[in-house]
Amino acid sequence: MLQKINETAQWIRNHVEGEMPGIGIILGTGLGALVDHIENKQYIAYKDIPNFPVSTVEGHSGNLIFGTLGGRRVMAMQGRFHYYEGYDMKQVTFPVRVMKALGIETLFVSNAAGGMNKEFKVGDVMIITDHINLFPENPLRGKNYEELGPRFPAMTEPYDKALVAIADAVAAEKNIRVMHGVYVGTPGPTFETPAEYEYFRVIGGDAVGMSTVPEVIVARHASMRVFGVSVITDLGGKDITEVPSHEEVQKAAVKAQPIVVELMKEVILRV
Ligand code: HPA
Repeated sequence: MLQKINETAQWIRNHVEGEMPGIGIILGTGLGALVDHIENKQYIAYKDIPNFPVSTVEGHSGNLIFGTLGGRRVMAMQGRFHYYEGYDMKQVTFPVRVMKALGIETLFVSNAAGGMNKEFKVGDVMIITDHINLFPENPLRGKNYEELGPRFPAMTEPYDKALVAIADAVAAEKNIRVMHGVYVGTPGPTFETPAEYEYFRVIGGDAVGMSTVPEVIVARHASMRVFGVSVITDLGGKDITEVPSHEEVQKAAVKAQPIVVELMKEVILRV
């Protein structure tokens, strides 16, 4: 694995013009349009990158984008690898390993999530303050490479408190309504039953989704700082009768997108 990571990182260094970035961004649902704010973009298709998994979802672009955002060098992933697509955990998190090898120290992520917190409304933006890992496998299972991080990494501050404070300040300045909450990561691809949404709420979750947790575990293993945002695209629980669908999730995410992009961009500029 080490060899693959280094090989891919070296290939990227050879193919990217300009300085290597210090900031990594996973453009999940709600954040795709952040691309429009990246300047001097260089696109590299996943399919051209050695050892990189390739997106299976039709119409998903699958590119690394290198460029500058407010003068800072960034590397953005356009298209992520979901566990429900059939990738194993090492594949899902491989790009984060490569980010670290390239020198990236801060990771920004977004996702779409179903809300269980009774205060939440569709379209809300939730700053992730913690998560609960309900994936059937931890991405760090198996041989540990001390070069990458410790065997038993602490998870006391999975989401960087200083970055959350910056985001709160940005939200207050710009009059953006932001919620805070715990993200429950599940394998999917089914949405939850009413009893499952209730269960996730009872164990301390505010929102549930099918991504992010594996990537954040690997980023924290490698001592990267992480900031994450969920867009609440549907609500779940025993009193909720609306049926969630991919279309509804996409629609709600597109609507919330300008706000998520504005928030993320400003936090990145202030890091
Ligand atoms: N459950 C799981 N994943 C999701 C949901 C949900 O309700 N909404 C968007 N992603």
